[in-house]
Amino acid sequence: AACGGGGGDPADYPEDDIEIVVPFAAGGPTDTVTRMIAEPMSEELGAQLVVQNVEGAGGTVAAGQVATADPDGYTVLMHHIGMSTAPALYGEDLAYDPVEDFRTIGLVTEVPMTIVARSDLEPETLEEFVAYVQENQDTVTMATAGEGAASDLCGRLLTSALGVEVTVVPYDGTAPAMEELVGKQVDFMCDQTTNTTGQITDGAIKAYAVTTPERIDALPDLPTTAEAGQPDIEVSVWHGLYVPAGTPDEIVEKLTGALQVALADQAVVDQMAELGTTPVEQDQATPEAHTELLTEQIDSWAEVIGSQGG
Ligand code: MLT
Repeated sequence: AACGGGGGDPADYPEDDIEIVVPFAAGGPTDTVTRMIAEPMSEELGAQLVVQNVEGAGGTVAAGQVATADPDGYTVLMHHIGMSTAPALYGEDLAYDPVEDFRTIGLVTEVPMTIVARSDLEPETLEEFVAYVQENQDTVTMATAGEGAASDLCGRLLTSALGVEVTVVPYDGTAPAMEELVGKQVDFMCDQTTNTTGQITDGAIKAYAVTTPERIDALPDLPTTAEAGQPDIEVSVWHGLYVPAGTPDEIVEKLTGALQVALADQAVVDQMAELGTTPVEQDQATPEAHTELLTEQIDSWAEVIGSQGG
């Protein structure tokens, strides 16, 4: 936590910089969304939100760190769908309980994913890609941001739908994974539009499908997985903000208020639209809506991951 925070009167919060922990590498999708909202939130709170990237173990290192931070509002966690998949993936090895050890601030956004490949991978369509991976599963490589990452979850859905096992290459985030995909050192990945849209538009990588029921405005020519024959691969990546359990109500309310202001900011709306996403509705940027989704998702992903023998 930032120094000077602990022990202060919650009514005076914030009196110091606030650390906002991002569980993946700088420049990636989680980092990008965090930096978009950090500025308007800082303005609203009258204190600087300082982004801290704490990488490792698919986002679980950062969450574990924030779970045991002082509950004084000076350490905030940005996390995504991985908050709900980690219990099923890690079981008793998970050092924290996503519900018991945190208070939710509110949901932030829900980001579509895309199935993308190095620009010189042979297949041109998702249908061709499916056949290619099925024929070449011994040699094909898939990038992910580690067990617990959204790219890992989407990769599991994809390889399970295709009935294949491929070599997984884990990174500290999809920013470094994207560098290697652009550099043709790895074959494919499933990643959020907030990280892939620019590279797809520039032709630096190939894109096969978007994982949402509807096409997205930022990539209007890209078919949905259902259109391309893979309706079971449907996933989008919700993000939310957390503070350690025990953080006073007054602080949670201030952070939620600042989040809502940031999500209504036209610059934020525009930046998100360019990257294929939107802020959540204001009534979703609340602790109640966030906790409801988190608990529902923990149960539903436990079933999916359990049924895959993961
Ligand atoms: C990131 O920020 O690198 C991503 O959210 C990683 C992922 O979950 O796939």
